[in-house]
Amino acid sequence: MVTNKALKIAVIGGDGTGPEVAAEGLKVLNAVSKLENFKYELEHYDFGGDRYLRTGEILPEGAVAELRTFDAIYLGAVGHPDVKPGILEKGLLLELRFQLDQYINLRPVQLFPGVETPLRDKGPKDIDFVVVRENTEDMYCGVGGFLKKHTADEVATQTAIYTRKGCERCIRWAFEFTRKRNNPKKMLTLVAKTNVLTYGHDLWWRTFQDVAKEYPDIKPDYNHVDACCMWMVKNPEYYDVIVTTNMFGDIITDLGGILQGGMGVAAGGNINPDPGGTSMYEPMGGSAPKYTGQNVINPMAAINALGMLLEHTGQPAAAARVNKAIRHVTGTKMKSQAAGKMGYSTQQVGDLVCEAL
Ligand code: IPM
Ligand code: MN
Repeated sequence: MVTNKALKIAVIGGDGTGPEVAAEGLKVLNAVSKLENFKYELEHYDFGGDRYLRTGEILPEGAVAELRTFDAIYLGAVGHPDVKPGILEKGLLLELRFQLDQYINLRPVQLFPGVETPLRDKGPKDIDFVVVRENTEDMYCGVGGFLKKHTADEVATQTAIYTRKGCERCIRWAFEFTRKRNNPKKMLTLVAKTNVLTYGHDLWWRTFQDVAKEYPDIKPDYNHVDACCMWMVKNPEYYDVIVTTNMFGDIITDLGGILQGGMGVAAGGNINPDPGGTSMYEPMGGSAPKYTGQNVINPMAAINALGMLLEHTGQPAAAARVNKAIRHVTGTKMKSQAAGKMGYSTQQVGDLVCEAL
């Protein structure tokens, strides 16, 4: 990417506290763009629960085509207490992941200095790995249905779809990523359940073995997902990079999220790595409706997501600066990462990161 061209970012603040935390990320963007001397343009979109309740529409016609024209999407949070669970998740978040073919969900599990982890005797050196979650297949495809619904004989199916193309592109990206990450371990762990899912995860297993041959410098490793949960708690330092399926990736990254201090910190990127692809970066926390407008939610996850956005849109120096500033603030200023317990307001945390840049 040419760095003198303005970075075009679509902002979807979303529901609840989403817009508040996104605003702090954008504050950091403004500050770091001056220090690193790059230009950007923002376009705000009001997609989310409120708009849906007002208009009955989640993504208006043409919205996806418009979003495609941006270099990146920066998302606050989706989820509204007056909207039935599943509607916004499916209609907005999953819809964008699928339509924009963001086939990588990149979720670093990184304990920042000063942040409390529930793991006794583990510190920032021990908790530092990355989960590469496939983001377009599996049980998320919405394939299935009901038979004899609402009767005693009801049948429900929810089919996991795995394709050679889908797992291969994700596995190959994960090998490339492991190589670039260049951790001394140089190890990529496939996390699946080959002892039970003897068709779908056999496809993952065989594909992993095939692609591994192209990366002799990377150690290929395998864990069953249940064992992985145990190891993540007992020996998180074992891991370098994990590659896994959509559903398992969803579950183990919540476990990862709490190891790194919870939803106030954890961030992720929904990445379409293809040329011209539009990726979307988001804090992992939800919309926390009961805290809306109180200025108490930790924006660090949103700032962290902003750092990831910069890393992947041709601004690695700015990203490094943001990451360093986050570490400085968590390590020296904040009491806790929990809402209302930080010792600072949402906006003050954003200010502290800007000062530390
Ligand atoms: C996540 C979330 C989503 C998912 C939900 C909100 C659909 O849990 O980003 O991990 O399951 O992927
Ligand atoms: Mn999840």
